[in-house]
Amino acid sequence: MHSVDYFRTQFISYLEKKIFTKEPINLYAPISYILELGGKRLRPVLTLMSAEIFGADYKKSLDAALAIEVFHNFSLVHDDIMDDAPLRRGKPSVHEKWNINTGILSGDAMLINAYQLFENYESETFRALAQLFTKTAIEVCEGQQYDMDFETRDDVTISEYLKMIDYKTAVLVGAAMKMGAIIADATLEDQNRIYDFGRNLGIAFQLQDDYLDAFGNPETFGKQVGGDIIENKKTYLYLKALELGTNEQIRELTDLYSIQPNDANHKIQTVKEVFLETGAVDNAKEEIEAYTLKAFKVLEALDITEENKNVLKEFGNSLMQREV
Ligand code: IPE
Ligand code: IPE
Ligand code: MG
Ligand code: MG
Ligand code: MG
Repeated sequence: MHSVDYFRTQFISYLEKKIFTKEPINLYAPISYILELGGKRLRPVLTLMSAEIFGADYKKSLDAALAIEVFHNFSLVHDDIMDDAPLRRGKPSVHEKWNINTGILSGDAMLINAYQLFENYESETFRALAQLFTKTAIEVCEGQQYDMDFETRDDVTISEYLKMIDYKTAVLVGAAMKMGAIIADATLEDQNRIYDFGRNLGIAFQLQDDYLDAFGNPETFGKQVGGDIIENKKTYLYLKALELGTNEQIRELTDLYSIQPNDANHKIQTVKEVFLETGAVDNAKEEIEAYTLKAFKVLEALDITEENKNVLKEFGNSLMQREV
């Protein structure tokens, strides 16, 4: 199988061929901007890998991979508006650089563009891809709404949280892989297994995202460190700290999450200390590993070569080590 770096390079050159800015500039310039800002290209790489693993020429899956990446970037443009996030990949977010209305409409156009890319597939494949995409996209919306609703709720449970991140993040990772399998005409069983692999990896991925949001290095992270704390996001770290903390720690956390303090830095520092002292951070790391291992377990049942399983495992392990 080709290497992850090879797939990423191939994907990026395909993307660059497809992006151009046309009239009206204020609709398309933000689209080129966000898509060219980079990012890890994790999801499209998974689509290409999956297609090749199940025996297809990976090139057949480039349009699906692009659709997934364009959809992902659309969701980030709208997510940054909803989260009031000033930074994305080390640069101003779209609504900061332009304005909120631009973010809304350019995001809408990206969602439509993503859908359009499936038109490049023959009818049967088109139907399967479009069906999966529609189901996934609506789940992402549901996950994003839960995420917003939880900001102002003080009774969110860890199982509600897990459902929220499954929808807002994990199902898209699963779908990225399943699309590769669909294009390669894999059996339905294998399609579903690789979907489950991606989905468990996606849960680990979002847990790590929550961790990095609080503890990432501001020099390299590319997003505003502490953004989730400022927004009172009910992340895994927060919910676990409430579960493990002393009465004093619980009171401190809930107080800080019920006010909008003038001194955001003080809130961030104090909350991070509580996350560490309660053991929530250690617990989150264990959970990230547990979901990664759960993903690996799904691989066992798959009828693919050991070598390919190992490439997928290396990819999963590298995600656990990531700093951005
Ligand atoms: C950010 O996704 C949004 C989440 C679902 C956590 P990524 O961390 O994959 O973002 P990029 O594309 O690499 O910037
Ligand atoms: C984003 O979750 C999920 C989607 C964009 C659908 P986050 O809000 O945690 O993502 P980041 O941290 O801004 O990248
Ligand atoms: Mg966000
Ligand atoms: Mg968000
Ligand atoms: Mg985040």
